[in-house]
Amino acid sequence: MTKKIGILTSGGDSPGMNNIIYNIVKNCINNNYNIYGIYDGYKGLYLNKIKLLNNYNFINIKNKGGTFLGSSRFPELKNYKIRKKIIKNIKNKIDILIVIGGEGSYIGAKKLTDMNLPCITIPGTIDNDINNTDYTIGHYSAIENIMKSIDKIENTIKSHKRISIIEVMGRKCGKLAILSAISCSCDFVIIPEIPFIKKKLFKKLKKNNKKYSIIIITENIYNIKKLSKEIEEKTKKETRYTSLSYIQRGADPISIDRILSKKISYFIIKLIKKNKLGISIEIKKNKLTYSKLNDNNIININNNNFIKKWFNIINK
Ligand code: F6P
Repeated sequence: MTKKIGILTSGGDSPGMNNIIYNIVKNCINNNYNIYGIYDGYKGLYLNKIKLLNNYNFINIKNKGGTFLGSSRFPELKNYKIRKKIIKNIKNKIDILIVIGGEGSYIGAKKLTDMNLPCITIPGTIDNDINNTDYTIGHYSAIENIMKSIDKIENTIKSHKRISIIEVMGRKCGKLAILSAISCSCDFVIIPEIPFIKKKLFKKLKKNNKKYSIIIITENIYNIKKLSKEIEEKTKKETRYTSLSYIQRGADPISIDRILSKKISYFIIKLIKKNKLGISIEIKKNKLTYSKLNDNNIININNNNFIKKWFNIINK
């Protein structure tokens, strides 16, 4: 019997999602599977927004940022009755569900797998905050964009010997901030994993007294407008703040995310053929692997020696 596979993107969009969908559709067609796109994430699954993608024309979207399937946050999925309705909706329509997303998407996939809709998750979030995988698709594309934005800001900040605070995303994970700070040799980084000590920041800015300075901060830690004012008062230097917001997330995928998307698509078809379901795809030491979907492979925010090491080097 022909396999019926559904695919959805969930949570924040991430560069590379379109590449994954495109490549999976191609591979499904080559294997005579039916592949169904679910529009707007789990919400679309609930509302029955499901279309066969076998004849879809991908020409203009396959290497673009965002997700053409659309995405959503759907906290209602926690509700057992909602999930029950989903299972009823897709009965006889979809046998296997591929979910591309981050933490919330994984939790949903685990719950649906437990209700006999076997899911396969693919790590797709700019935050790179999922346990058991070194990498999540879109992370380096976001960093590339942050880096380009910092370079531009630096040209101006340097000209005026000012201080710049640049806010990046990442939710509870400081990897976007740390890696951007490394790639642009920034002067200070503030991340969720390690308490922010203002005194240390002022000390570092004082050390940098004759120059300009760039501070990278993860969202939701400290109000950047307030921080900018406090820095001006303390240093008597003009200070500007910028929140990069969707400029970092909406990027087109760079090569690493395109290549991994393609590799993952082939890997997934191989696993489906072997009936390996209820699993999460992982990228470890540059190799693709998988493990059973469970509550442990969901979020990874602590215990990261890399983050701690570079936090100390940057802020010294
Ligand atoms: O998870 C990806 C992410 O971009 C986070 O870094 C950020 O906290 C969140 O999504 C923002 O969500 P939204 O775009 O829905 O406001």
